[in-house]
Amino acid sequence: TASTRDLLLSRIRDVADYPKPGVMFKDITPLLADPVAFTALTDALAELCVKHGATKIVGLEARGFILAAPVAVRAGLGFVPVRKAGKLPGATLSQAYELEYGTAEIEIHAEDLSPDDRIMVIDDVLATGGTAGASLELIRRAGARVAGVAVLMELGFLAGRGRLEEHLQGAPLEALITV
Ligand code: PRP
Ligand code: MG
Repeated sequence: TASTRDLLLSRIRDVADYPKPGVMFKDITPLLADPVAFTALTDALAELCVKHGATKIVGLEARGFILAAPVAVRAGLGFVPVRKAGKLPGATLSQAYELEYGTAEIEIHAEDLSPDDRIMVIDDVLATGGTAGASLELIRRAGARVAGVAVLMELGFLAGRGRLEEHLQGAPLEALITV
């Protein structure tokens, strides 16, 4: 609802020139520190998971973990982490993707997903869409289906939605707030 959006937006702090000059960082720590706002966020994301028929939640390290774990519990679904390369001990699938400068790599334990699963990916921010896009590739390569991507915040001016389109293949991208 509009009042939930206003509450969430009011708890996101703009930090100028972080992590480098000219960048306005969206800091979610005030939102996490406010139990009413954090609960409203968890409920809103859990509702989207149910709406889109998710059977499991994938959270993206690191800030995505903070949101995705309570959402999974709230929705009564399992949680599967997508981690930065080198952190998972078992048999992993890896996916590289492009950053502004250079490349990054994320991994998943494929055995935690099954062909019957419909996965909702949860993260705090959609910026260029690179991270979320790579996670969707991992999910498909692990043999599961994609229920969608849900984020707290979409940075509209970075056009991540367009970049994500080819990876979504028709699945929904839900953003509670677009800035
Ligand atoms: C940030 C943010 C998203 C991602 C969005 O994570 O939490 O996961 O960038 O950017 P993109 O859409 O351009 O891929 P980051 O890897 O910076 O750090 P974190 O470990 O703190 O989540
Ligand atoms: Mg992140």
